[in-house]
Amino acid sequence: MSTPSYVPWTEKHKPRSIAEIKEIVGEADYVDKFVNWLKNWKPGSKAALLYGPPGVGKTLLVEVVAKEFNYELIELNASDTRTESVLRRLVGQSSKTISLYGARGKLIFLDEVDGLSGTEDRGGVGAIVELVKVSMVPMAMAANDPWDPKLRPLRDVSVMIEFKRLRMTSIIKHLKKICAREGIIADEKALRIIADLAEGDMRSAVNDLQAVAQGKSRLTVSDVSWLRARNRQYQAFDVLRMLFSAKRCDDARGVMNMSALDYETLMLWIDENLPRQYTDPEELAKAYYYLARADVFLGRMKRRQRWELLKYVIDFMTAGVATSKIRPYRFTKYSFPQKLLLMARARQMRALREAICERIASKCHLSKRKASTEMIPYLHVIYEAPGLAKKDISKWLRLDSSMESLLKKQG
Ligand SMILES: Nc1ncnc2c1ncn2[C@@H]1O[C@H](COP(=O)(O)OP(=O)(O)O)[C@@H](O)[C@H]1O
Ligand SMILES: [Mg+2]
Repeated sequence: MSTPSYVPWTEKHKPRSIAEIKEIVGEADYVDKFVNWLKNWKPGSKAALLYGPPGVGKTLLVEVVAKEFNYELIELNASDTRTESVLRRLVGQSSKTISLYGARGKLIFLDEVDGLSGTEDRGGVGAIVELVKVSMVPMAMAANDPWDPKLRPLRDVSVMIEFKRLRMTSIIKHLKKICAREGIIADEKALRIIADLAEGDMRSAVNDLQAVAQGKSRLTVSDVSWLRARNRQYQAFDVLRMLFSAKRCDDARGVMNMSALDYETLMLWIDENLPRQYTDPEELAKAYYYLARADVFLGRMKRRQRWELLKYVIDFMTAGVATSKIRPYRFTKYSFPQKLLLMARARQMRALREAICERIASKCHLSKRKASTEMIPYLHVIYEAPGLAKKDISKWLRLDSSMESLLKKQG
């Protein structure tokens, strides 16, 4: 059975064993350090804090080691508010799970501890530190920046294991392996460019490779050339530029993977900027036709919960829109979708109005709803008229100038 094409290559081709990791990263000491920590761990020992830049294999190593030594891995995300209560339950338990095949050790993995708060008592660093001290189960943690002062107490109870950016040679080696498995003949130079752009981040390199090489039998330097023009965080403008200049359907579809925007937001961006990009009426009509089709499918997908329709939404809004061009791509200045601006403004107004109601409610002993229906209309009249007691009212209700101007504007 062939794997469906939307499986990310970071999953499909991730190393499955310690040996495979070592083959890629060489004799990196962090692998042995972590294995030894786990092997020697007993209640009262320190936790392990794996740290280093994103995409270098921290999570990966924990997963692979757990699997290889037959530990039951319990992965928790530190920024999840439920994590602390789950942890509390776990740390007190026996460190072994009894299964059909005998006793199996547990390993708790708390990922992304940078996200922990330093001060709050619930779910904060302090709570985790206490749990580490009493845990009957080994706890591993991962962080990008462990030197943040708020993580200091955590460092004190942990064995520190450093991960560095991966070397070019390691990244290229892995990319070559993936190409071989996918049946892609890749130019060394093309892989070199991808690896170079990744700046030591394997996740980013593999994602880039998938974006440029999936479905191809050959990968050349010209296939990857557009990666160069990109900075790592895709800005909407770059996404649009790539979309409108795409010469082939595949390239147009590819922008969806590159983009940090979700498809609905991207649709707004395209909608706003179509008339700027396409000035020829024929091009414009065609492009709007495809965008409208995308919108129809999007509506159907959401109404009927038919998520498989998403591929048509994406095809229409990317490949359809890109292939509508007749004339060559020309540089265009794009602009922010008006609809998003209006929505943001409306949200701001609602929040402001809410805040005014709150103040009236507490001063006049009313519900906020009553304040809104029975007081605000009068305040509008007062604030619109010249003179009157505006100053005193503002002072009494502690309204700031933005609140005052809201009351002035709407009647
Ligand atoms: N040393 C490595 N060898 C091969 N692939 C790796 C390596 N490190 C990371 N990757 C790839 O990058 C992906 C993300 O790695 P991950 O362990 O989640 O990074 P981190 O936790 O450090 O941010 C993995 O799923 C894997 O596909
Ligand atoms: Mg991770």
